[in-house]
Amino acid sequence: MAAAPPTPAVELEDIQGLVRFAFKRHTEAVFLLLRITDRAAARAWLARAAITDAVTRAPAPSTALQVALTSGGLRALGVGEDLIASFSPEFVEGMAGDPSRSRRLGDEGANDPTRWQWGNGERLPHVAVLLYALPGLLRGLQQTIEEQLRGGFEITGRLTTANLDGIEPFGFVDGISQPELDWSRQRPARDIAQSSYVTLSCLGEYLLGYPNEYGLYTPRPLLEPRCDAQGILPRAEDAPESCDLGRNGSYLVLRQLRQDVPGFWQAIDRYAGGVASRREQLASAMVGRKLDGQPLVELQSSPAPAGGNPQASLNAFDYRSDPQGLRCPLGAHIRRTNPRNADLPPGGDGIVSRLVRTLGFDSQAREQDLVASTRFHRLLRRGREYGVGVTPAQAVAGAGAGEDRGLHFICLGANIQRQFEFVQSAWLMSTKFDGMREESDPLLGNRLPVAAGMPADRFSMAQPNGPSQSLSGLPQFVTVLGGAYFFLPGIRALRFLSGTR
Ligand code: HEM
Repeated sequence: MAAAPPTPAVELEDIQGLVRFAFKRHTEAVFLLLRITDRAAARAWLARAAITDAVTRAPAPSTALQVALTSGGLRALGVGEDLIASFSPEFVEGMAGDPSRSRRLGDEGANDPTRWQWGNGERLPHVAVLLYALPGLLRGLQQTIEEQLRGGFEITGRLTTANLDGIEPFGFVDGISQPELDWSRQRPARDIAQSSYVTLSCLGEYLLGYPNEYGLYTPRPLLEPRCDAQGILPRAEDAPESCDLGRNGSYLVLRQLRQDVPGFWQAIDRYAGGVASRREQLASAMVGRKLDGQPLVELQSSPAPAGGNPQASLNAFDYRSDPQGLRCPLGAHIRRTNPRNADLPPGGDGIVSRLVRTLGFDSQAREQDLVASTRFHRLLRRGREYGVGVTPAQAVAGAGAGEDRGLHFICLGANIQRQFEFVQSAWLMSTKFDGMREESDPLLGNRLPVAAGMPADRFSMAQPNGPSQSLSGLPQFVTVLGGAYFFLPGIRALRFLSGTR
């Protein structure tokens, strides 16, 4: 029998670096939001922009530049409607393009897109240029790039960022848990019914043109070779007769999330009766980790070896040891955003046990959401904080009130609907997540009553002996100030798009 052909290597030189790197050493960053004012000049800039790729280099480049486009941006560049329609519907419609989407995402009330500073109507950017730099180098980079952009673009927004040393504005260590991308393509393309949670994740979950966790290629724009007369684009792996405009590209979700840090800590202080230790306990219960990143459930392995990723040791856990949420509440932010479920409810590896769980006959299975397997809903987070940091103690005392600080939330994924939108609506905003009622995400909920006036402003914590302890009347802590869906193309695809007519 002939040996299977080797799996084609990943073209790192065609992938924008942000998919592979978080640019953590590049502690300075700014995200420029642009509208195209002169199509020819804009195309000329996009055709030669020095995009940073995903190849590991020593030393690492001192600055990095990434480019992403909205569907409005593709249109402004002159890309034809037929081609635009072959991107995913969510991308084409846009984050703020449909009231039912806004409702599902929780973008109502204070989060309503009509109140956004950017991202809606005429304030929808065409292009986002993300600039990253080692300390001290951002100002010069930004000046150079802004100079280059003059003529082709109007800069409608500059999202500045702050280096808070890996701590998000509420005061918690962030960026600990991420999916691990299968860059060597070793993960079986069709790995059915996984019985335990793993962090290794198929490339096709984040990059178009590769198999995803279903063993399938996510729909994306495929072109007849005659549309690419210059032969810029690669052929599709699953359809070699077509040119793959999606390959090595990803969708990028950007949301500006304002965090009311004094409001958060003062509310928690009230619930805690002014007791500092209780305050920290309640805040940790809402997040699912302590301020220093320690998870509330027990870690499964010993600390990472010296020289390894120190944060990996804070990530070796799932929730099988805490099914009722006695240690980490079921509604905690990290439990909602990643319930760490496998394809089957927890149980033994034996064939009978698997069969019983697959068919949903055991009592536990009835309580679990079988479709909530997390490997189909992972997000690669790449956000940056903004604004001046205040400590929890300062915030309780009222410091920083009225100031704008928060998170420029960014996540990457090959399927906006199955990844970002699912997590945001079915897990974060849903008041029925995991059998709960009257509560949505304790950090992000908009607290608006749901149908029939049912409140959505609670946070409950199961207790070992007796009814859950419940906080009610939670205020809104996070407000959406803007957002948009972008396509982060492969570098060849960007060159192709800058020449399309
Ligand atoms: C201002 C808003 C937000 C704040 C303050 C916040 C804060 C945090 C913190 C402190 C962690 C724990 C650190 C870690 O495990 O890496 C975390 C984890 C996470 N957050 Fe958020 N977050 C925010 C918005 C969001 C949004 C909008 C989403 C998705 C739609 C999201 C998805 C996640 C995910 C997937 C994790 C990792 C969970 C895990 O794998 O255990 N977050 N967040």
